[in-house]
Amino acid sequence: MDKFVIKGGKALHGSVAISGAKNSALPVMAAALLTTEKVSVHNIPKVRDLITMSKLLAFMGAKVSIAELPASDYEIEATTVSDAVAPYELVKTMRASILTLGPLMARVGVARVSLPGGCAIGARPVDLHLTALEKMGAEIITSHGYIEARVPNNGRLKGAHIVFEKITVTGTENILMAATLAKGETILENCAREPEVTDLVAMLRKMGAQIEGDGTATLRIRGVEKLYGTDHTVIPDRIEAGTFLVAGAITNGDLTVTNCAPEHLGAVIAKMQETGVRFDEIDKTTLRVRGAKKLVSSDMTTEEYPGFATDMQAQYMALATQAEGTSVITETIFENRFLHASEMVRMGANISIDGRRAVVRGPAQLSGTTVQASDLRASAGLVLAGLVASGETIIDRVYHIDRGYEGIVEKLRGVGANIERVHGTGS
Ligand code: EPZ
Repeated sequence: MDKFVIKGGKALHGSVAISGAKNSALPVMAAALLTTEKVSVHNIPKVRDLITMSKLLAFMGAKVSIAELPASDYEIEATTVSDAVAPYELVKTMRASILTLGPLMARVGVARVSLPGGCAIGARPVDLHLTALEKMGAEIITSHGYIEARVPNNGRLKGAHIVFEKITVTGTENILMAATLAKGETILENCAREPEVTDLVAMLRKMGAQIEGDGTATLRIRGVEKLYGTDHTVIPDRIEAGTFLVAGAITNGDLTVTNCAPEHLGAVIAKMQETGVRFDEIDKTTLRVRGAKKLVSSDMTTEEYPGFATDMQAQYMALATQAEGTSVITETIFENRFLHASEMVRMGANISIDGRRAVVRGPAQLSGTTVQASDLRASAGLVLAGLVASGETIIDRVYHIDRGYEGIVEKLRGVGANIERVHGTGS
C-alpha cells in the first residue's frame, strides 16, 4: 500500500488550482442514467471514486468515455440499461453507488443495489432513501445484502409529499432524481441545501426536468415523460479548497487558491478568521489565505450546509492543535468521526474526546511519526498535521485520500511542501 512521507515545517507559498467537486460529480454522473441521450460532463476530478462510478455505469450498460485531454471530460450514454444492478464489489468500495437507485427506479422501474454497510465514520443507514421511494410507489425488500426494488405493474413512480426526518445529502439527491420522471408532482421537505444538490438541480433542469426551490429546504418537482442529453460542468470542490486554505494557514504561508467558489466556503472562512487567519477574495473564483503569527482557539460545531461541513472537521482539528487556547469541536453529523484525533495525539497533540465533543488544547509542537489514515477527510487532517510537525510523518493507507483528492501530493509540492508518495506492495 502507498504511503505519504512528509517533512514538515515549510511555509506554503504560491498558487494552487482546485479540481471539480467529487460529491457533485457522483450524482451528476448517476443522473446520466435518466436519459437515453448523451450527457457530457466536465471538470470531473481524477479521483478513484469517479473511476468507480464510471465502472458502475458501464456495468449497467452505459457507454462511458473519458477524454484523453483534459481527462476531466466524460461522455456517458445510457442508451439502454441492460443490468439494473449495483454489485457488492463496487458498492463496498464506494457507498455513493446508492445514488444509482433513484435514477434506475425512475428509468427502468427496477433496481438491485447492494446495501451499503457502515463505514469508519458511522453506521450510515439508507432508510430515508428507501422510505421515500416507497412513498412514491416502489416495493422494496432487502434480502441477502441487496436492496431489491421495483415499481409494480411495470409502472412509473408517482409523485408524493415527502418530509425527510433528517437532512440527508445523497438521500435528497436520490429522490430528486427519482422524482424527475415520476407521474405528477413531488414535494420534498427538509432537503439538504448543499451546493452539490443545487448543482445537480441545475444539471437536471438542463436535461428537461421541472424543479423549483433550489438552494432551499423545499424542492418541488413536476415529473416529465422524458429527459434529454446535456452538457454540464461540475462546481469546484469546496472541501478540497477548504483543505488548501487550512494548509496555507497552518504553515503560516501565503497561498492563492484558484478555480474555487468562495461563496460556498462562507462558514469555513468565517471560522478560520476567528482564529486569526487572513483572507482576501481576489475575484469570484480566487481566494488568498495568509497565516497568522499567532493562531487563537475557536469552538466549532459541524452542521449541514450552510453550516461548517463535517467533511472539514478533521482539517479544522489539525489547525486547532496550533491555536493558543482551548477549542471545543462538536461533531453533529456522524457518530464516529474523530478517528484522526488519536493519531494526532500520537503526534503530540493535546486532544481529549468525550462522545461527540473533542477538546483540543493548543498550541502543541507536533512531531512526526507513522500514522494511519482511517477515512478520506481524516487522511487530509493528518497530512495537514504532518505539514507542521517536526521531522518525518509517514501516513499509511493513503488509498483513502486517493478516493477524493486529485493529485494532492503534486499540488502540495507545487506550493513548496516536502511530501512524497512511496509506492508499497501488499498490506
Ligand atoms: C454525503 O454523504 C457526502 N457524500 C459525505 O461526504 C458527507 O460527509 C455527508 O453527505 C454529510 O455532509 C456524498 O455526497 C457522496 P447524509 P451522505 O445522508 O449523503 C444519517 C466525503 O468525505 N442518515 O447527509 O451519505 C446519516 O447516518 C463524504 O466526501 C440516516 O440516518 O450523508 C448521517 O448521520 C463522507 N438515514 C446523517 O443522516 C439515511 O437514510 C447525514 O448523512 C440517510 C442518512
